[in-house]
Amino acid sequence: MTESATTATTVVDDAAPAASLFSPITLGRLELPNRIVMAPLTRRRAHADGTPSDLMVRHYADRATAGLIIAEGTFLSHRSRTYLNQPGLATDEHVAGWRQVTDAVHAAGGRITVQLMHGGRVAMLPDAEERGIVAPSALPVGGERRLPDGTTRPHATPRALATDEMGGVVAEFADAARRAIDAGFDGVEIHGANGYLLQQFLAASTNHRDDAYGGSPANRARLVVEVTRAVADAVGADRTALRLSPGETRQGLEEHDSPDVAATYAALNAGIAGLGLAYLHVLSFHPDSELVQGIRRDFGGPFVINSGFEEVTTRAEAERFLVEDLGDAVAVGRPLLANPDLVRRWREGRELNTPDPATFYTPGEVGYNDYPFLED
Ligand SMILES: Cc1cc2nc3c(=O)[nH]c(=O)nc-3n(C[C@H](O)[C@H](O)[C@H](O)COP(=O)(O)O)c2cc1C
Repeated sequence: MTESATTATTVVDDAAPAASLFSPITLGRLELPNRIVMAPLTRRRAHADGTPSDLMVRHYADRATAGLIIAEGTFLSHRSRTYLNQPGLATDEHVAGWRQVTDAVHAAGGRITVQLMHGGRVAMLPDAEERGIVAPSALPVGGERRLPDGTTRPHATPRALATDEMGGVVAEFADAARRAIDAGFDGVEIHGANGYLLQQFLAASTNHRDDAYGGSPANRARLVVEVTRAVADAVGADRTALRLSPGETRQGLEEHDSPDVAATYAALNAGIAGLGLAYLHVLSFHPDSELVQGIRRDFGGPFVINSGFEEVTTRAEAERFLVEDLGDAVAVGRPLLANPDLVRRWREGRELNTPDPATFYTPGEVGYNDYPFLED
């Protein structure tokens, strides 16, 4: 237990909790007892080959009272990997490891989906140059990547995917989705946010293509539509979800709130809105913006909202999102990272453990499985 995790606490306001955060909701095939969803959180506690560890079994099972757990961004294949000790869904060993996690969460009464992630040009790995990373265009992330030995190196330049390789990318997502269901997950969330491969296609700043996957908003949305449809075909639309971060700048990718961006997400929605997906999940610093709420309207199905990285989500903010009808459920990251029993703490207006950023990505259980539960 780190000192900050044990001793630093934050007192939440003492207003009565809004009933709606603690009321059930159905997201496709998923029946949630409350609307507090654990946001996907990369923690780099898997084994070196990407097999989930026992630490992860305990971590996720401890958080089973969340309405839904979305397990961290998980790679689909060798070349889609982004981080050391990131878990995968590429091999039978990965599936067997995840099976331990999903069994433990279910035994504890919880529900768990997994985020399917292709990093594209973002590869924070020592051998990024050798792995042949791919992206819509041969444009590296600006600046440097930090390696585990503390040194830094410029980001590797990706290879632009050929048009006839797109089917292969789509298949990687669909295959990983099937393996996720084999591993016992209740569904999958496609990672279309935070500057990784799919958003690299959506954003004009990272997509300079002139084929059917670049140029117009509809062309830039095409790959995300194809991936979403293929995953829905593979495992059922009612257990397929998509996460987006429209208008956000991340991993060197710039997207601003502009007519072009709104048109891109409208084109994306035109391709997926009729599928009957379990939910659409949006991460945004501006959840009440017309860009975000327009996407929600176009989608028309269950909408999970998350307020973005700047400030840690508070109970008051989560309640406001529901009271002001900005979403149907709220995704919560760092508060659940530091409080396995967050649902109870919020419901009872109890003190919270404070998340310790120094241990977000470090190996071992410190700052991972040692945040205490309430004792009484
Ligand atoms: C340590 C850490 C890891 C994260 N990993 C992921 C991830 O794997 N996939 C993803 O979509 N977002 C990821 N995020 C973003 C969170 O899901 C969430 O959007 C963000 O933390 C803001 O919510 P909060 O204020 O409730 O923490 C991560 C954030 C943190 C702090």
